[in-house]
Amino acid sequence: MNNLKEKKILLIISGGISAYKSLELIRILKKQSVEIKAILTKSAKEFITPLSVASLTQNRVYEDLFDPSNEAEMDHISLSRWCDVIIIVPATANTISKLSQGNAEDLASTIVLASDKNIILAPAMNVRMWTHKATQENIKKLKDFGYEFIGPEIGDMACGEFGEGKMSEPLTIFNHLNNFFSKKTLNVKNQLKAIVTAGPTKEYIDPVRFITNKSSGKQGFEIAKSLSKRGINTTLISGPTNLDAPKNVKLIKVETADEMYSEVKNKLPFHIAVCTAAVSDFKIINKKKDKIKKDEKINLELENNIDILSYLSGHNSKRPKLVIGFAAETKDLIKNAKLKIEKKHCDWIVTNDVSRSDIGFDSEFNEVSIIYKNKFEKTDFFSKRSKSEIAEEITNKIIENFVN
Ligand SMILES: Cc1cc2nc3c(=O)[nH]c(=O)nc-3n(C[C@H](O)[C@H](O)[C@H](O)COP(=O)(O)O)c2cc1C
Repeated sequence: MNNLKEKKILLIISGGISAYKSLELIRILKKQSVEIKAILTKSAKEFITPLSVASLTQNRVYEDLFDPSNEAEMDHISLSRWCDVIIIVPATANTISKLSQGNAEDLASTIVLASDKNIILAPAMNVRMWTHKATQENIKKLKDFGYEFIGPEIGDMACGEFGEGKMSEPLTIFNHLNNFFSKKTLNVKNQLKAIVTAGPTKEYIDPVRFITNKSSGKQGFEIAKSLSKRGINTTLISGPTNLDAPKNVKLIKVETADEMYSEVKNKLPFHIAVCTAAVSDFKIINKKKDKIKKDEKINLELENNIDILSYLSGHNSKRPKLVIGFAAETKDLIKNAKLKIEKKHCDWIVTNDVSRSDIGFDSEFNEVSIIYKNKFEKTDFFSKRSKSEIAEEITNKIIENFVN
């Protein structure tokens, strides 16, 4: 998964022989739609040119602390505030030493000292420089400051020696950054609470007979699993199914629509409601206490169940920030979904075609569209794939909604 899309990275390139590898890193990051601004130290310019860096980053390159055009456009403090993270690739022994002392003698060191962002370094140097006590003490200090390190690795060096000090490859640095942002977004998500409703409900006619529907609950269980995997505190309130509780998800089993409604109500407040359950629209008013005899004459009287989706969408004080409904349709999917959003006042509707036997009810597969309130033109379509993959897509959309 690309966690780096549209992230802002401030890349500091210091003066080591591996500086050329930072160009490859820029190329990989740009492919993932990362915005990069770069600072070259004075020594870095001996190894690569600002022109190459500017061409690849498609941004101007920053070099000097005392540059009037810098200060006019974006002063040195703003540059450190602009980014989501600062990476130093390569980090020379000299730069590491300066940062460990808290020096602010050039643009790179001043910006790092002035920054409130995470700092990640990819050191690169000769094995003896790396193993020197001075460097190791500097590294320890920087780790104490909370700076992160990628590498160095053991291998052949440009100087012909072999040992620890070789800079990690650009792809390794990229993967580290990708993980860094996935951890970061997870922290945001750890604060979120979700309720997923799933499965059918049963409306009893007598103690042994009931009205129900074909919902298997699979899609809802997969969504609960996927939300929880991504760090969201998830409770699943499910009607009768033969599915096991997903790992780390609290499963509350119910039978009737009334029970489902009261469990949902008790769980308020929460941030996200995903209402996948096929809740019975009706319940039986003249439900019999004893089993109805074969020759007994009965007329079933029905009344509407409470609409859980409308209840959540219309809650005055505890409305979840995101209320998602599901619509099982047999025709005019998008049109009906838009009508449902307007009628129920939810935020999104996920709609699927239940007339097809290859997707939907009881199938392992699904094909869905997401329709968004006030953004009818922005419908997302996810073609036929496993219910767990559909769940991942919906979860991605949910997380985007909270992270952005
Ligand atoms: C050819 C050459 C290669 C160098 N490679 C490295 C290196 O890989 N790592 C390192 O820490 N220093 C290396 N240096 C030394 C640095 O360029 C020097 O310490 C410089 O002051 C670093 O400045 P900076 O940290 O401000 O960029 C190299 C020097 C030369 C001449």
